[in-house]
Amino acid sequence: MEIVRRPHLMQQTTQDLKRDKLKIAFVPTMGALHAGHLSLVRKANQLGQVTVVSIFVNPTQFGPNEDFERYPRDLGRDVDEIKELDVDYVFAPDPSDMFPGGYGTFLYNDTLSDRFCGRSRPGHFRGVLTVVAKLLNLVRPDFAVFGQKDFQQAALIKRMVQDLNFLTEVVLCPTVRESDGLALSSRNAFLKPDERQAALVLKRALDLAEARVADGEDDPDKLAEAMRGAVAAEPLARLDYAEVADAATLDPLDRLDRRAVALVAAWVGATRLIDNALLEPPGEGR
Ligand code: PAF
Repeated sequence: MEIVRRPHLMQQTTQDLKRDKLKIAFVPTMGALHAGHLSLVRKANQLGQVTVVSIFVNPTQFGPNEDFERYPRDLGRDVDEIKELDVDYVFAPDPSDMFPGGYGTFLYNDTLSDRFCGRSRPGHFRGVLTVVAKLLNLVRPDFAVFGQKDFQQAALIKRMVQDLNFLTEVVLCPTVRESDGLALSSRNAFLKPDERQAALVLKRALDLAEARVADGEDDPDKLAEAMRGAVAAEPLARLDYAEVADAATLDPLDRLDRRAVALVAAWVGATRLIDNALLEPPGEGR
């Protein structure tokens, strides 16, 4: 495993790999790697001949009052986590090399950037799209692997890849969960023991929506309302949003007549968590 720190060296490496006609599979991360990331790396190993993992806490996707400063950073530990896997390159650039003084170009999706997480994290997806576009240009992967847990992020990235003609296939992997259902997230490390327990409310809300659909409920508003009620019942949690949307477009739905996604975000203590579940229309069997 080679650690590449400088963007131009990553680009040179990519050019050599391309010249040798090797298929590159890429896992972009912000480090603090956990089993969810490892599942993405394993998927990348299957897809490509060369696996590249980036570790970069992207300053442009954090708002002024968010957790950029306290976001966990430990490159040595991250490298240890993946050393048993088949990772050829770890790209770990410095912020000053990715966004040097004078940097001024940002990407924005007119319809998707300001919904759901974008509403409570203004500018977040502008930063995500921009850094992912830069990373895709530096690594030029055949495949880029993302987790379903960040459903809106994945939808935005898929749209960007399509809109801007990147020659990369975006591959989504299922959310990895703790045995009690909590979705793995680097931010779980911030939870105090009672908050860790309270955090299960996100999965509970999604389970409730799924159970209602299984009972025949096809009104997205009622499903969202049920999820909001579930979160409200947990004293340590504060709802950000709970919504049901078209899984393909993230547009609002009048009725659950196609595959939908239930999305939930809540603060548990000072930590904001997100989760989601795909909902098949009632009667369509999973
Ligand atoms: O999902 C993440 O870890 C980040 O948003 C990403 C895609 C690596 C961009 O910084």
